[in-house]
Amino acid sequence: MSLAIICPGKDPQPWIQAISKLDPELNIQVYPSIERPEDVEVALVWQHPEGILSDFPNLKLVSSMGAGVDHILRDSGIPEHLPIVRIVDEKLTWSMTNYVVMGVLNFHRQITRYQADQKRKVWDMSNPEIEVKVGVMGVGALGYDVLEKLDFMGFPVFGLGFSEKKDFPFPYYTKDQMELFLDQVNVIVCLLPLTPDTEDILDLEFFKKCKKGTYLINVARGKHLVEEDLLEALNRGYLSGAMLDVYRTEPLPESHPFWNEERITMTPHIASVTNPSAAAPQVIENFKLIKSNSPLKNPVNRIKGY
Ligand code: GLV
Repeated sequence: MSLAIICPGKDPQPWIQAISKLDPELNIQVYPSIERPEDVEVALVWQHPEGILSDFPNLKLVSSMGAGVDHILRDSGIPEHLPIVRIVDEKLTWSMTNYVVMGVLNFHRQITRYQADQKRKVWDMSNPEIEVKVGVMGVGALGYDVLEKLDFMGFPVFGLGFSEKKDFPFPYYTKDQMELFLDQVNVIVCLLPLTPDTEDILDLEFFKKCKKGTYLINVARGKHLVEEDLLEALNRGYLSGAMLDVYRTEPLPESHPFWNEERITMTPHIASVTNPSAAAPQVIENFKLIKSNSPLKNPVNRIKGY
């Protein structure tokens, strides 16, 4: 039996080390040098080449290297019976929450404005704080933690999700209550999974419904955002700024207009990067669970897409 690591363009070494440390006996094969495809029972993947998973006749489980699984589900050739799991990890959640808190504080304390003032040697003490109310779209493990921590810090918070929720401890809205949700908030955090329902959700129509001057933080996927609509929304004043960690094309091409847009603060998809040492135990655990036909940790619902 063997575990295949398939992550073209990403260094597999930290994963190999973390997994071997926990289970030195486990045979690991790394794409593209998979010599015994018939031995592969678990595939640990990040943006695998489409169709490749059907090369492994004894595959029992597909595990994402991260929290997202859109990069797996885009492959329509994955056999129906194959379970898919994702990483839910405290360290991943902690990093994501810290990033979002930074974005919220950036807007609340207007750091972008003060950086621009510093460049121009401007001393402007007017209106040093913007009152913020934060709306988090996507209330899974990551979104929930963001809501909890921001609430603890004293910010009014509101959640939005795609399914009904009972006894949710924060004000909660479903997709069909989007306008009500947008009426409450002036910071939007996108932490939605990428599915056909959520692709392009952040478009001009959406921005028109936001309170004037809303601040956007997108830490989910580039495809949630219609990028030219963001520029239009900034120019029309629907939005006052944005902090982005994800883009439709990554790395962001040099010719992209976002590079020169002062109102957008950008980071290169680093908001929360899976730490292989922290995540490897659940990969091994799921390997054992699938072999004993036991319920898996962090299983993905293929219909829902997360
Ligand atoms: C990162 O983007 C992840 O899905 O973990």
